[in-house]
Amino acid sequence: MNYHSRMKEKVEKLKTKDKLVVLGIESSCDETGIAVVIDGQKVLSNVVSSQIPIHAEYGGVVPEIASRNHIQNIDFVYEQAILEAGISKQDIDAVAVTYGPGLVGALLVGLNFAKGLAYGLDIPLVPVNHIAGHICANFIDFNDLQPPFVCLIVSGGHTAIVLQQSYNIHKLYGSTLDDAVGESFDKVARILGLKYPGGPQVDKLAKLGKNNITFCKKHTFANPYDVSYSGLKTAVINYVHNCEQKGIEYNINDVCASFESQAFDDLIQKTIDVSLSSGVKKIALAGGVAANSYLREKMTERAIKQGIKVYFPSMSLCGDNAAMIASAGYYKIKYGNVDVDIALNAQPTLPLDTTQSFINQ
Ligand code: KG4
Ligand code: ZN
Repeated sequence: MNYHSRMKEKVEKLKTKDKLVVLGIESSCDETGIAVVIDGQKVLSNVVSSQIPIHAEYGGVVPEIASRNHIQNIDFVYEQAILEAGISKQDIDAVAVTYGPGLVGALLVGLNFAKGLAYGLDIPLVPVNHIAGHICANFIDFNDLQPPFVCLIVSGGHTAIVLQQSYNIHKLYGSTLDDAVGESFDKVARILGLKYPGGPQVDKLAKLGKNNITFCKKHTFANPYDVSYSGLKTAVINYVHNCEQKGIEYNINDVCASFESQAFDDLIQKTIDVSLSSGVKKIALAGGVAANSYLREKMTERAIKQGIKVYFPSMSLCGDNAAMIASAGYYKIKYGNVDVDIALNAQPTLPLDTTQSFINQ
């Protein structure tokens, strides 16, 4: 029997196994992560080696440097994850790995490591979508959270409002028509001379400022749940350039506070609208931008008034990590279809599998 047929049988057996031990691997951008998680929720280890200080020198992630650093780090991160988990390699039931979206060279490092491990241990290789992983970070922190819930996905590359109908089914309500919200934070931070990654810096300065600059008018879109960030980002850049050219001093804290509230207010309202219109009164935040303090505070404040419960992952699980990938692997084994393919390739532009969409209703 070849690997593929053997693994099909193994996955079927794992569906009914208690205490499923999944090793997760994440390397889609500038974090090398390996984690060991039991039953999708109990984290035994979650080792993340961040390359932020290396890329900060260049003002953003340099793909080639990211790939090289993943290669240098991954062996150590793996040994550390096994050591901290207190398990032996033979205890691992499956290897879950991010195969997209992300930087192709970076993805390939984690993916090839995962393939070697799964093949060597004769256990299933479970392909995980990075964005689905971000959503699952919520299951680690909240044992009581179960689908359905509305999920606001906010990261460096994605901005979308989905209805998580079951563990593996996402119904798309709205998304960004251009830039992702995290990307716009990073670009605004760069124009303000703040260090990479810009999101946390803007968050910090915004707390000291006031929302007293209107950057652009509200837009209406054909799909009421869609959003757009390129206009807002350009308006901030123009404002700063204009002040600099005319020698006008501007208040950086006010620029951050105004940009931040204009970036989130609509998005918060649209997420609440999806919750109210679908009758699903639970909202979860997912992705690196879910770490933003204004978003966490205002979403909670406004949702509570409508009787909606809000969930957001702990700070360490908002950014890229492998525990969320291991968790997503578990839910895929338990309730989804695992296409075990040792020839799996990296997919840099892999979309979230939104089987249904609000627009086609
Ligand atoms: O999910 P993530 O770690 O990587 C991707 O999958 O893209 O998200 C990274 C993004 C970056 O754009 C970063 O600036 C942003 O998340 N971010 C924040 C905050 N912390 C991270 N944006 C706003 N406020 C924050 N506190
Ligand atoms: Zn991410």
